[in-house]
Amino acid sequence: MKHSKIAIIGGGNLGGAIAAGLIKSKFISPDHLTVTRRNVAELNDLKAMGVNVTSDNSAAIQKSEVIIVALKPYNVREVLEALKGSFDRSKHIVISVVTGVQLKDFISILAPGVPVFRAMPNTAIAIQESVTCICHQGALNEQVNYVTELFNQLGITIAIDEKLMDAATVLGACGIAYALRFIRAATQGGIEIGFDAKTASLIAAQTVKGSAELLLKLNRHPEEEIDKVTTPKGCTIAGLNEMEHQGFSSSLIKGIITSFEKIGK
Ligand SMILES: NC(=O)c1ccc[n+]([C@@H]2O[C@H](COP(=O)([O-])OP(=O)(O)OC[C@H]3O[C@@H](n4cnc5c(N)ncnc54)[C@H](OP(=O)(O)O)[C@@H]3O)[C@@H](O)[C@H]2O)c1
Repeated sequence: MKHSKIAIIGGGNLGGAIAAGLIKSKFISPDHLTVTRRNVAELNDLKAMGVNVTSDNSAAIQKSEVIIVALKPYNVREVLEALKGSFDRSKHIVISVVTGVQLKDFISILAPGVPVFRAMPNTAIAIQESVTCICHQGALNEQVNYVTELFNQLGITIAIDEKLMDAATVLGACGIAYALRFIRAATQGGIEIGFDAKTASLIAAQTVKGSAELLLKLNRHPEEEIDKVTTPKGCTIAGLNEMEHQGFSSSLIKGIITSFEKIGK
């Protein structure tokens, strides 16, 4: 599968970011990649990189082996129904990054036997720092390895059961908004204690990045690292406990559960 040609159907925010990341990482050469959307003028940046751009989905599918579907959930069925005849189960694999559309829905639309993957990245895919949760149906080991390798170019990859896909969406994709709101709030606090907005934002963002790297690179538990900075009777524990009295952890957990309940409706 290594030299497969890839078509991205729906070259919007996510489809475009996947295309750019795959080129940047040299996972695929630009001439082996085709990106589609109706308004192709919006794909000029990719075209300038040597990527094939077209509004002809059927032609894109026919000249590729790996089809990444990055359409909005509400037009997936209509667009794919019209392309049904273009899929060949002995040639194609389909990867959907569409939120909320299940593997069984894809299988019911596409030709029987086409291996289908669902992948849930987040917007950090634009800088190849996504966490992408993946599940699949009907795929061979070689195809699973290929799809894992593809998304490993764009961050890290975690294999999950499809029943956890909504939870992955909340924790990973919505999680970007939660983390950014934390940074924004820390920035506001930083301004109040003396920094200009730009400096406060830089300190807050780099501090969150460094904290995350302590867990990811050194495999530490958050509390182990928290213990290191909470001097007895010191300012960190005083502030941290006040945040908890105000419902810090509880509000995050409740927010995550609220998003999860909403996505399930
Ligand atoms: N953004 C995220 O954080 C994130 C994370 C995980 C999953 N997702 C999912 O990824 C999907 C795409 O999200 P997005 O933010 O990238 O949306 P988006 O920017 O609206 O991209 C969708 C693209 O599909 C194109 N399109 C519409 N009809 C088409 C057709 N008939 N043929 C070919 N292309 C067509 C649209 O372009 P034209 O109008 O020019 O055709 C548009 O650029 C969604 O299902 C979303 O739920 C997003």
